[in-house]
Amino acid sequence: RLSRSLSITSLSGLPLWEEESLPVQDLLLFEVSWEVTNKVGGIYTVIQTKAKITVDEWGENYIMMGPYYEHNFKTQVEKCEPPNQAIKAAMDSLINNGCQLTDQLQDKPSVIAHFHEWQAGSGLVLSRSRKIPLATVFTTHATLLGRYLCAGNADFYNNLDKFNIDQEAGERQIYHRYCLERAAVHCAHVFTTVSQITAVEANHMLHRQPDVVTPNGLNVRKFSAMHEFQNMHSMNKAKIQEFVRGHFYGHLDFNLEKTLFFFIAGRYEFSNKGADLFLESLSRLNYLLRVHKSDVTVVVFFIMPAKTNNFNVESLKGQAVRKQLWDTAQSVKEKFGKRLYESLLRGEIPDMSKILDRDDFTIMKRAIYATQRHSFPPVTTHNMLDDSTDPILSNIRRIGLFNGRNDRVKIVFHPEFLSSTSPLLPMDYEEFVRGCHLGVFPSYYEPWGYTPGECTVMGIPSVTTNLSGFGCFMEEHVSDPSEYGIYIVDRRFRSADESCNQLTQFMFSFCQQSRRQRIIQRNRTERLSDLLDWRYLGRFYMHARHLALSRSFPGKFKMDHLNLAPTQGFRYPRPASVPPSPSASLHSTPHHSDEEDDDTYDEEEEAERDRQNIKAPFTLGAEEIS
Ligand code: UDP
Ligand code: G6P
Ligand code: GLC
Repeated sequence: RLSRSLSITSLSGLPLWEEESLPVQDLLLFEVSWEVTNKVGGIYTVIQTKAKITVDEWGENYIMMGPYYEHNFKTQVEKCEPPNQAIKAAMDSLINNGCQLTDQLQDKPSVIAHFHEWQAGSGLVLSRSRKIPLATVFTTHATLLGRYLCAGNADFYNNLDKFNIDQEAGERQIYHRYCLERAAVHCAHVFTTVSQITAVEANHMLHRQPDVVTPNGLNVRKFSAMHEFQNMHSMNKAKIQEFVRGHFYGHLDFNLEKTLFFFIAGRYEFSNKGADLFLESLSRLNYLLRVHKSDVTVVVFFIMPAKTNNFNVESLKGQAVRKQLWDTAQSVKEKFGKRLYESLLRGEIPDMSKILDRDDFTIMKRAIYATQRHSFPPVTTHNMLDDSTDPILSNIRRIGLFNGRNDRVKIVFHPEFLSSTSPLLPMDYEEFVRGCHLGVFPSYYEPWGYTPGECTVMGIPSVTTNLSGFGCFMEEHVSDPSEYGIYIVDRRFRSADESCNQLTQFMFSFCQQSRRQRIIQRNRTERLSDLLDWRYLGRFYMHARHLALSRSFPGKFKMDHLNLAPTQGFRYPRPASVPPSPSASLHSTPHHSDEEDDDTYDEEEEAERDRQNIKAPFTLGAEEIS
C-alpha cells in the first residue's frame, strides 16, 4: 500500500510535495513525443526539462521515444545498450521482425505509456485497439482546431460552444489530423492538458474534459549568491550591446547606457503570438517616447523562425565594420602605449599632441569613413524568402518603424532561433534572454507559453496575457503579478484597442524606471521561480500516471480518493515592501526612490520577509494508492 506524504521544505516557503514513489521496479514508463530530442517549440522544453525529475523517480525504467533524426541523435543523446531486458527483447523483436509487436510484455512489468500530441496519438489508438495491456496517458499541449481557428482570426473565446467542429476541421483541411487527435483523447485512460484555459478549450474542441491539468515547469537553477543572476544580466547585456553597435553603425546617436532591450520569441504564428498587438503598441510607444522627449531608446528583437536565404549582407557588414573599428582602436592603442612606455623609460612625459603620427590619423579617418551609411540600419538580419508578404515586415512598413534616427523604438527581426555559433549574434537563447530587459509575449492563443516562464526563472520581467496558460496560472497564484515584473495584458475582456493601450502603458512605464528600480524588480521576478520548478509541478504528472494505473489495472492499483492536492488556495503575497494600496499597480514599478542609489532598500531583507509571509498557506490532503 502506497501513501502520499507532504513535506514543506522549500526555502521560499513553497510546498514541495514528496510522494512515496510507485514500485517502479515492477513498472516501465514510456513517454512518446514528436519533440523528443527534436526542437520544434515548447513541447521540446517540457520533455527536456522534465527529464531530470522523471529519471530521479524512475531511473532506467523510464524510456522516451521520438523520431530518429541523424543530427539530433549525434548531438543530443548517447548510444547505449538497453539496460532493461524487456526493452532489449522488444528492440530485438522490432529489429528482427520489422515493426511488429510480439507478446513480449505479457508477463513483464506493468507499463505506462504517455503520449504527447496527435503525432504520437496513433501509438495510443493502436495499442488500445490491439488490447495491449498499457496504462495510457494522452497530453495535448494545444488543440489542433483551436490553433487553426485562432490563427484564422476567429473570435474564439466568445464562441467556444458555437463552432461546428467537424465542419471547421474539414474546411481547414485538417480533418484527418483532428480525427487522430480526438481518437487519442478518447482512447486514453487519462487525458491531460497543460493549463486550465486549454482544458476548457479541449472540452469544446475534443469533447472530453481533461482529467488532470499538468502545468509546465522548468529546471530552476539557484545560485548561491543572489547577485549572480544580476551579474549574468550585465555580462550578456554587454554582448547584445556589441551586436547593436555593429547593427546600428553610423546611426549610433543614442546612448547605449540608456537603451533597453525588449524581445518576443517563439514559433512564428503572427497573431496567435500577439506579434500584431506588439507592433501596434510599439508604434504607440515610439510616439510617446518622442513626445515626452525621452532619452531612452528601446531596441526590440523579434526572434521568430521564418523562411530565409541566409543572413543579409548589410547585417554581416555591420558586424564587420564594428570589428574593423575595434581592431583599429586596438592597433592605435598599442602604438600609443608603446610610445608612452618608451618615453617614460627615458624619464619624459610625452607631448600628447605628437604621440600619434599622420599614419595613425589616416587609419582612424578611414575607419570612421567606413561607418558612414546612406540607408537605415536594416530591420531584418536575414534575406527573407517571402519579404513582400511576411506579416511582421508588412506591418513594419505600415507603421513606418524603419530604424530612423528620430525613432526611439528600433526593430531587429531575427527570423531564426538563436545560436552561440552565429556569426552575427553569437549567443544561445538563454544568454540572450538574460541580457534583455523585458520579454513581451502578448499572445492571443497560448496554451501555456514557456517564454515568459523562462524569463521569470532568469529574473527577467515579462509581459504575458490572460489568454495564456502561464498568465492565468500567475494570476491565480500571485497576488499582484505586476509587482513581481509579470505584466498581464487583458485580452479576454477588453477590445483590441484597449489591450493595445494597456500594453503600451506597461512598456512606457517600464521605460520610465531607473536602473535601481529595474534591479529591484529583477530580484522580485526571480523570487517567483520556485513556483515554476518541476520539483513542485512534477507532481501533476505523477498524479496522471497513478490515475492511469488505477484505471487500467484496477486489481493492482487503487487510488482511495482522487482528490489531487489542489494548487488553488496558494498565493504569493505582494512583495513585503510594497504598500498595501493598489494605487500604483498600473505602472507597477517598485515603489522606491527614483534615485539610482537608494540606501533604504535592502533586497535580502525583503526576500526574507516575503519568505516569512508565504509560509504554509497551503495544505494538501494525503492521497493513498494501494
Ligand atoms: N526558443 C529557443 N530558441 C530561440 C527562441 C525560443 O529554443 O531562439 C524556445 C524557448 O526556449 C521556448 C520555446 O522556444 O521554450 C517556445 O515555447 P513556447 O511554449 O513559448 O511556445 P511554442 O513555440 O511552443 O508555441
Ligand atoms: C545588474 C548588475 C549591475 C548593473 C545592472 C544593469 O544588476 O549587477 O552591476 O548595473 O545589472 O541593469 P540594467 O537594467 O540597466 O541593464
Ligand atoms: C505548445 C503551446 C505552448 C506551450 C507548449 C508546451 O506548443 O503552443 O503554449 O507552452 O506547447 O506545452
